[in-house]
Amino acid sequence: WGKTGHRVTGEIAESYLTEKAKRNIAKLLKGQGLAFVSIYADEIKSDNRYREYGPWHYVNFSFDKKYGEETPSERGDLVQGIQKCIEVLKSETSSEEDKEFYLKMLVHFIGDLHQPLHVGRGEDKGGNDIQVRWFKEGSNLHRVWDSEMIDYYKMSYTELANNADELSLLEVEAIEKGDVLDWIYESQNLAKKVYASANVGEKLGYKYMYNHFPTVRAQLQKGGIRLAKILNSIFG
Ligand code: ADE
Ligand code: ZN
Ligand code: ZN
Repeated sequence: WGKTGHRVTGEIAESYLTEKAKRNIAKLLKGQGLAFVSIYADEIKSDNRYREYGPWHYVNFSFDKKYGEETPSERGDLVQGIQKCIEVLKSETSSEEDKEFYLKMLVHFIGDLHQPLHVGRGEDKGGNDIQVRWFKEGSNLHRVWDSEMIDYYKMSYTELANNADELSLLEVEAIEKGDVLDWIYESQNLAKKVYASANVGEKLGYKYMYNHFPTVRAQLQKGGIRLAKILNSIFG
């Protein structure tokens, strides 16, 4: 996602944290909120010292295979990245500095996991190579899903987070069910539909948003709830 999408996920997660998790996280992040730290992993992308984390933002594997049936990328990917973050955060021997770093990365990656095209095809870089028009401007399918639809409303991340569905406990529990790989497959299934939703060069606008913004909204909400689930299990 772009900045707003990540901030929405962080903001929603805050509201599902236990008091204990909130305290422990506030200590590590020195009071910075989850929305604030959610874009850190993008901010360090341009810094060569952090180049190794570039491939952690996405994962590409065949749509008709399970993750791991093909050899996962040696450079790392979203699945391996999330595993590493959780491992560092759970370890009693990690430094506070490392924990702060990997917590900020985890907040970001759980967000990216829920952007369907971050679990897309490698050949087109998750839709980055699929050029389309967004209203009158040139864009690509990945960008439409990362940010164009979200930014269209010019709503702040807090407005968007407050605009989430009022969910019953049962609905929250259904969203919390499963693990990181289950959620990856869910995103990949959505990615199949996203690829089928537009042709190269197509002009996308109101109708596209009307059809697909509900999916964006649902994915952001799931991202927030599931991030809180993971953080509560580590810090709660
Ligand atoms: N960004 C760059 N490469 C990507 C890929 N293969 N999938 C998703 N996002 C990407
Ligand atoms: Zn993206
Ligand atoms: Zn990212």
